[in-house]
Order: sequence, then C-alpha cells, then structure tokens
Amino acid sequence: MNNSVLFNHNYNGFHFCVDDLMLNSQGCDGSILIDNGEDSERKANGHQGVQGYNVIENAKAQLEIMCPSVVSCADIVAMAARDAVDLSHGPVYQVETGRKDGLVSRMELAARMPDVQDSIHILKQKFIEKGLNDRDLVILSAAHTIGTSACFFMTRRLYDFASSGGPDPSINPSFLPELMSSCPKRGNPNDRLPMDHGSGDIFDKQIFQNIRSGFAVLQSDAKLMDDPTIKGIVDSYFGLLSPLTGPSFEGDFMSSMVRMGRIGVKTGSSGDIRRVCNAFN
Ligand code: HEM
Repeated sequence: MNNSVLFNHNYNGFHFCVDDLMLNSQGCDGSILIDNGEDSERKANGHQGVQGYNVIENAKAQLEIMCPSVVSCADIVAMAARDAVDLSHGPVYQVETGRKDGLVSRMELAARMPDVQDSIHILKQKFIEKGLNDRDLVILSAAHTIGTSACFFMTRRLYDFASSGGPDPSINPSFLPELMSSCPKRGNPNDRLPMDHGSGDIFDKQIFQNIRSGFAVLQSDAKLMDDPTIKGIVDSYFGLLSPLTGPSFEGDFMSSMVRMGRIGVKTGSSGDIRRVCNAFN
C-alpha cells in the first residue's frame, strides 16, 4: 500500500479509535469495526462519515498470516491513529498495546458520543465521564488539525443554526461564503471539506488559531470559545513565553492520546483477539 493511501485512510483509523474510546461505553475495543447488520455500532449517526474500514481489515489480514491471534483489532486501530499523526508531521508517541477486542457492538452504545451540536458544557461532561479533563478536551479537539468532515455535519451550522434559519453567528463573515460554497444547501451531504482551514494536511496548532478567529469548521471546535476556562487553555498555547515555558502543544497531545488509549481497555476474559475485524469469532 502506498503512503498516500495509508495517509488518507488513516485519518479514519484515527477516528475509529476516537469513536471507540469516546463514543460508547465500551472503550477502545474495536467495537465500531463489527458489521453485524442494522444494529451495528458503525450504523450510528455520528459514525456515518467513517470510511476506510478495509485499511484496518487489510492490516489485520497481513498480521494474521505472520502471527495468528496475537494482535487485536483494537491495537491496530490505536497504531493506525499514531501513524496518521506521524505521517502528517505530528509527534511520534509510543502506543501502549495489549488491548483485547470487545465482545459487544450495538448502535445504542454510541448514544453518549460527543456530538458536533453539543454545548461546551455537555462536551466537558462527556469527557469527564471518560476520565478526561478540560485540557484533554482542548488538546484532543485539536486532532481536527488533520482530516476532513462530511458536509452532513455542517448543514445545521450553515443553514439552520439553533433553528434560526441562518448560519452560526460565531463563523467569521469572511469565512462563511467559502464554507457555504464547499457545502451548498442542497449539495451532496457526503462531500468533504478540510477541518483545519489552510492547513488540513499538516499536524500543527493552526487549528487553535482558526478557532480563535472564527475559522473553526466544526461547531464543536467553535464551542471551545464559549467557556472561559476552556478558552484560557486554548490561549495558553499562544502565550508570549509559551515556546520557552510551555505548555507544549505536541507534548500535551501525546500525553492526552496515551490517556485516551487507556479508557475501558479489555484484558483477560473481558475480550478476545478477533480473527477478522468486522466479525466476532
Ligand atoms: C470533542 C468531541 C469530538 C467531536 C464532536 C468530533 C466530531 C467529528 C466530526 C463530526 C468529524 C467528521 C467525521 C466525518 O465526516 O467522517 C470528525 C473528524 C475527525 N475527528 Fe473528531 N470529534 C471529536 C473529537 C475528536 C478527538 C478526541 C479526536 C482525536 C484525538 C478526533 C479526531 C478526528 C479526526 C482525525 C477526524 C478526521 C477523519 C477523516 O478525515 O476522515 N476527533 N470529528
């Protein structure tokens, strides 16, 4: 597989893990990979844009030839996330491994997923429920420095924000025409646009600068400005002395990713190692 294919699809590998970790009660256990009909977790609304399942499946097939039943799908997803960051010039961090794959995948378990339309209060709450703090919310939202969003997630923000019949007023007026042209009102909801305006392929803190100036693409990213504490954390990465005294954007990102990768890990008989990622053994 050439690097660009891996690069593009790994963003999804990244979001698989995030979805697995954040969006259900199960933890990072490969439950989103299971394809068991209409009730599968992958059919949940928030997962509609996820693609690239075949990349994880191909990696698993190659591993099964060399080391059968050793590497879980959950670990493959976590490593795909690491590689997506690395390939986009982000920090290289050590992924903890040894996760087992979960034994349950049901759509209803995705009900507590963070939603683009959540208030900042709800987003904070959902992170706390997973043992993550305010800084984790800020720094992990910055993962939107790479990758794209389906227009599906933009419609309300652009055309009927809070049932107003108009756009989200927090969008910078000079950015609005561009967003509307990328995602026209009656356009294809599956069209995609970069989430980090002007820097969608490079892992950097430009996403925070965009959020501060009204150039956030996702509504949930824009919401980071709604809470003084959260806004203060975003601003802390731009302090005059921050290059010398911190905080470090890359260092904090690595720590938060490792912390996120520990949520709800299955070991022992609470999970197993699947033979293929899209079906239980
Ligand atoms: C605050 C809660 C979050 C919300 C509401 C959220 C929402 C979204 C949405 C709506 C998309 C577009 C999905 C699509 O069209 O396929 C997306 C993409 C993405 N998210 Fe998040 N996300 C959140 C947290 C995170 C976290 C914690 C990470 C990683 C640490 C992350 C990494 C990504 C990446 C890499 C993509 C791009 C996927 C691609 O290019 O296919 N997100 N997110």
